[in-house]
Amino acid sequence: MASGEVDAFDSVLDAIGGTPLIRLARIAPRVYVKAEFLNPGGSVKDRAALAMVLAAERSGALPPGGLIVEGTSGNTGIGLAIVAAQRGYRLTVVVPDKTSAEKTAILRAYGAEVVVTPGAVAREDPAHVRQVARRLAAERGGWLADQYDNPANPAAHRETTGPEIWRQTRGRITHFVAGIGTGGTVSGAGAYLKEVSGGRVRVVGADPEHSVYSGGDGSPYLVESIGHYRHPDTAEDLWPQSYHRDVLDRVEAVGDRESILTARRLAREEGLLLGASAGTAVAVALRLAAEAGPDDVIVVVVPDSGRSYLSKYYDDDWVLRLGFPVEQAGGPTVSDVIGPLPPAPPGLPATASVGEALADGHPATLRPVGPRASGPPSVAEVTGTLDVAELRLMLTAGVARPADPIAGYVTDPLPAIGIGESREAALARLGTHEAAWGLVDGRVAGTIHKGQLES
Ligand SMILES: Cc1ncc(COP(=O)(O)O)c(C=O)c1O
Repeated sequence: MASGEVDAFDSVLDAIGGTPLIRLARIAPRVYVKAEFLNPGGSVKDRAALAMVLAAERSGALPPGGLIVEGTSGNTGIGLAIVAAQRGYRLTVVVPDKTSAEKTAILRAYGAEVVVTPGAVAREDPAHVRQVARRLAAERGGWLADQYDNPANPAAHRETTGPEIWRQTRGRITHFVAGIGTGGTVSGAGAYLKEVSGGRVRVVGADPEHSVYSGGDGSPYLVESIGHYRHPDTAEDLWPQSYHRDVLDRVEAVGDRESILTARRLAREEGLLLGASAGTAVAVALRLAAEAGPDDVIVVVVPDSGRSYLSKYYDDDWVLRLGFPVEQAGGPTVSDVIGPLPPAPPGLPATASVGEALADGHPATLRPVGPRASGPPSVAEVTGTLDVAELRLMLTAGVARPADPIAGYVTDPLPAIGIGESREAALARLGTHEAAWGLVDGRVAGTIHKGQLES
């Protein structure tokens, strides 16, 4: 590795991997984090990016000076950008619009072309990240890295991440925890650790609540880069081939609130500024630690740094606006003023008829409209508002008919306010509107009327 006369890596590519294990000395001394944010591109994905490019060079799929195209939540793109710079490729990266502004800025800084596309669409939709990436690669004669189905992705973790952890723990690891995005990390490192330990190491996947990997309905969640979203119009929900479910002993679901608050706690109590997917994974590790025996050694992959999310999980305004609880100075909050919200009005699918919309007899006057009928809708999926009381009057007057689609009666979504925001901030966001959705943990938990805030 050292380059002749100086004690140095030959290039930035040789600085990928070999990350330290760091004990959570204050929060959970049995838990060790694998500090993947210390890779040169700032994330675990440097490993997969390098391995995929080397494999494509070997197979001839990526010719010298060629174009690399990838659909990614950002970090794989950053890893590819480093490899592209070093080995002379051009790079186009397609990211979903949920990707943090920091990550797209970093990609551009490396000289990558960044194409932003809507995240909340069906897999078959031509606007879907993977469809756009596939189309651009075909149109431009580029090589699609395709981390979701590329065997070099899990192989990178089987060959590097897993063996490093085994060596670093001197074979004493008992539990391995990683978030599941493409599944490359947990499948590759997990498979190695299971094999080398004769099946002793427990492999546990960490998944955002609502993601389909842990049995959720696939509705949106706010942690970036892990889990599996499923739009209701998705016809065939294929899981990535990089995810080998049989390697995992179990998959634990973690709510956005627990993930975000765990990440924020790690910054303040351990001095580790990490992304929210690290919060998800550490939350699972903390659950395991609570039941751990004296010889247990729990290793958890922390994939990237919180520096990529200063505008999100570490921005108090962002966190409060979405209805997550964080301490703040200042006057009374929305929930101080209005008390508990009435039970959340379930969402109405945008395709419902007037008759269907009125059939459930829910007492709420204003109903959020979005693609899903079940549970409190994620604010990310709310596309409109239906005034049910008005619709009832129109039905009685014969202006509306039961078979009419509700689409003709739906108005814009209400503004959204977090129930932990200050009353002043909430009133400012309401502006001239008379009502808003009250959000708890990023989901519509009820309707708040202006009068309630002013009283
Ligand atoms: C921040 C972050 N966390 C977790 C993951 C998930 O890793 P994997 O795709 O190996 O499952 C990724 C992958 O992009 C990531 O960027």
